[in-house]
Amino acid sequence: MLSRVRSSGSAAKTVAKMRLQTTSGVINLNFGTNSSNGGGSHRNNRGRNIINGSNSSRRFLSSESPTTVSFEKMETDKRYQPTTDVPESLLDKDVTSEFSIAGQFREGRAAYLDMSATTPVDPRVFDAMAPYMIGSYGNPHSKTHAFGWEAEAAVEIARAQVAALISGDPKADDDDDAVNGDNKTTKKKLRRKRGVDPKEIIFTSGATESNNLSIKGAAHFYKKRGKHIITTQTEHKCVLDSCRSLEMEGYDVTYLPVQQQTGRVDMDELKAALRDDTILISVMAVNNEIGTLQPLKEIGELCRSRKIVFHCDAAQMLGKMPIDVDEFKIDLMSMSSHKVYGPKGIGALYVRRRPRIRLEPIFSGGGQERGLRSGTLPHALCVGFGAACDLASTEHDFDKEWIEYLAEKLRKGIEDNIPEVVRNGDPEHNYPGCLNYSFAYVEGESLLMALKNIAVSSGSACTSASLEPSYVLRALGVDDELAHSSLRFGIGRFTTEDEVDFVLELLGKHVERLREMSPLWEMVQEGIDLKEIQCSQDEHHH
Ligand SMILES: Cc1ncc(COP(=O)(O)O)c(C=O)c1O
Repeated sequence: MLSRVRSSGSAAKTVAKMRLQTTSGVINLNFGTNSSNGGGSHRNNRGRNIINGSNSSRRFLSSESPTTVSFEKMETDKRYQPTTDVPESLLDKDVTSEFSIAGQFREGRAAYLDMSATTPVDPRVFDAMAPYMIGSYGNPHSKTHAFGWEAEAAVEIARAQVAALISGDPKADDDDDAVNGDNKTTKKKLRRKRGVDPKEIIFTSGATESNNLSIKGAAHFYKKRGKHIITTQTEHKCVLDSCRSLEMEGYDVTYLPVQQQTGRVDMDELKAALRDDTILISVMAVNNEIGTLQPLKEIGELCRSRKIVFHCDAAQMLGKMPIDVDEFKIDLMSMSSHKVYGPKGIGALYVRRRPRIRLEPIFSGGGQERGLRSGTLPHALCVGFGAACDLASTEHDFDKEWIEYLAEKLRKGIEDNIPEVVRNGDPEHNYPGCLNYSFAYVEGESLLMALKNIAVSSGSACTSASLEPSYVLRALGVDDELAHSSLRFGIGRFTTEDEVDFVLELLGKHVERLREMSPLWEMVQEGIDLKEIQCSQDEHHH
C-alpha cells in the first residue's frame, strides 16, 4: 500500500533520526525519509510513524486519535483502500521558478489542498529568518549590547512590514487622489496614506492568542461601561471559548446566528442585538471553513457610531485580500503568520491608537509589547512574519490570479461533473481560495479515507469518541448527514494545477464508487423521494 503513495528514488536521502524517550521505552522517529527505509520505523499511510516493538506500542497514535478511524480499520476495511496511484507527474514535478516549492516536500504524501489550515513557509521567508537564528541571536530586549540592538532592529522592521500590509492598498490612494482634487478629500487621503503606525502592532504567538487577548482584554478593561458582548455562531473556536470563559465571569454574550446558506451576518439582526451595555463586537473577516467574507465596513461603521470596540479575527484574510483597518474601522485585529507562508508560532494583534483602545493584558511579566504581551519576542519568527507580509503585498496580484484560476477550475470541475453536490458558503462574498462542498449520499469518513492521497479537511470535527458535524455548517442550516460528507478545499500560492486535476479525478471516481454502495442513492436513482419517507417515519414516531 505504501508503494502506491510514493517510493523515494534516492537512497541517499537524508534520514533525520530522533530518539524519543517515552514511558514505554525509547523509540526512533525518522523524518524526511523515504517510506521504505527498512529501519526502526516507517511512515504509515496517515503520515504517522509506526514503531517497532510490542503490539501495544507499535502504533504511534495520539490519545486523541478517533477510535472510528483506527489503523486496524484502515488496514482491513476495503473502503479505506486507495484505488488510484498518485501520478508520477505530480510527484516529480520540475521546479522552474527560483524560489517555488510547488510539488516538493511530498515524501509519502500527495496533493495538499488544505491551505486554510496552514501554508508552507515561503523559501524567501526562510532565507530572511535564517541569519537571526544563528548569527544575530541576541535577545531583542537586551539594551546593553549590539546583539540585542541588532535583534531589536530586525523586530522593528518586521513590525513595520506587518503594519504596511493592513494599511490598505497604496495604489488605491494614488488613484483616488488623482480623481479627488478638492482640498478636504486630499487631506483625508493623506492622513490615510500614513496608514497603520507600527506601534499599533503587538506581536503574539498567533491568532489564538490575539483573539484571547482582544476579547478578554477589552472585556476586562471596559467592564465598568458594560458587560455585553456580541459575536457570531461561526467564529473560530478560540473566539467562542474566550466568550464562554467571560460568561463564567458574569458577562453576557450574544452568539448571533448567521444567514442560512451564506453564513453572512445580517446587519439588521446585529443592530437589533445591540444593547446600551454592549462594549465589544467580535466578527471574523473570512470564515476558515466556508470562506465567507463578512460585511466588515458596515460592522465597523456601526461600532464606531455606537462607541463599541470592533474586534476582527482576520487570520484567514490577512495577505490574501487587501485589508485597510481604517476603511473597515477595525479597532482590534488578530493575525497569524502560518496562514500566509510565514512560520508557525507567531502572529500579531493590531491595537488602534486613535481613538485609543485599551486592553487588560493576560500575561504578567517584563512588560514587553507596550505592556500588553510580556515575554521575550522570538525575533527570528517576527522577521519571518514580516517577510511573509512583505511578500504578500508584492505577490498579491499573482496570488490572486493564480488562486482564482485554480479555484474556478475546481469549482467547475466539481459542480459540472458530480451530481447532488451542495456548495456551502456565500458564492458572492468570499475568499475564493476556500471552497466547501457537501457530497450527498456519501459516508463522510469513507470519502475522506478514500481521498487519503489528498490532504483536505472534513466537515466533521473529531472529538474524543465521535465525529461531530461542524458547528459552522450547522449554523448555516446544513443537516448533520450532509455536514459529515463535506470537504473543505484550500488553495494557495504553491498549489499546482496537477494537484487540482488529481483531486477532481479522485473525487469523481470515489464519490461515484461510494454512492454505488449507498442504498439511499439507489432509492434516489429510482426516483423515490427520500423526504417523503423521512416524513412518514417521523409521523409514525410522534
Ligand atoms: C479564523 C481563524 N482564527 C484563528 C485561528 C488560530 O490561529 P493560530 O493557529 O495562529 O493560533 C485560525 C487558524 O486555525 C483561524 O482560521
